[in-house]
Amino acid sequence: MKKIIILFSGEGSNMENIIKKLHNKSLEVVVVIANNPKAKGILKAKNLGVKTVILDHKKFDKREDFDKELVEIIQSLKVDLTVLAGFMRILTPSFTDNIKAINIHPSLLPNFKGANAQKRSFESGINQAGVTVHEVVTEVDSGEIIMQKSFDKSGMDFDTFMQNIHACEYDIFPKAINKILNL
Ligand code: GRF
Repeated sequence: MKKIIILFSGEGSNMENIIKKLHNKSLEVVVVIANNPKAKGILKAKNLGVKTVILDHKKFDKREDFDKELVEIIQSLKVDLTVLAGFMRILTPSFTDNIKAINIHPSLLPNFKGANAQKRSFESGINQAGVTVHEVVTEVDSGEIIMQKSFDKSGMDFDTFMQNIHACEYDIFPKAINKILNL
């Protein structure tokens, strides 16, 4: 069975959705890694019986040192793919040159790269909003696009907009993982 690792930083709702839809079905989630010891997703993963590792970035002096440790853990587990699901860290080439990874971003890339994409997309005059799964490269939110899903945000309030963003994420992220792993 193909193996993946999921990295996350906070709520972990995408991680939870991926575990529920794919774990022990089309693939195995061997471990999930949080860089934030207070991430709410840690409990979600534990409740689903998936091994959880906390790698606190604050314990490392340099960004690069954190990335190197992360790469060592991932390589030791010999996974087929690393999945960034709400992982709020900028990664250095130490990571991006060595690890095959994909990320989910809450906009229709190349629009609204970087932080606060949801708010910027919501406040923009562009009616088409959506989410993108893409390959992870050193330049933030710039790797090859694997899958996108869009919706028309006209007339929506922010809460409804965010519900639509999450619904799109929960729909396409598992599909994109299966696609990239040829499952
Ligand atoms: C998602 O909206 C994702 O697109 C963005 O961060 C959010 C993470 O949410 N990168 P969750 O932790 O999966 O609930």
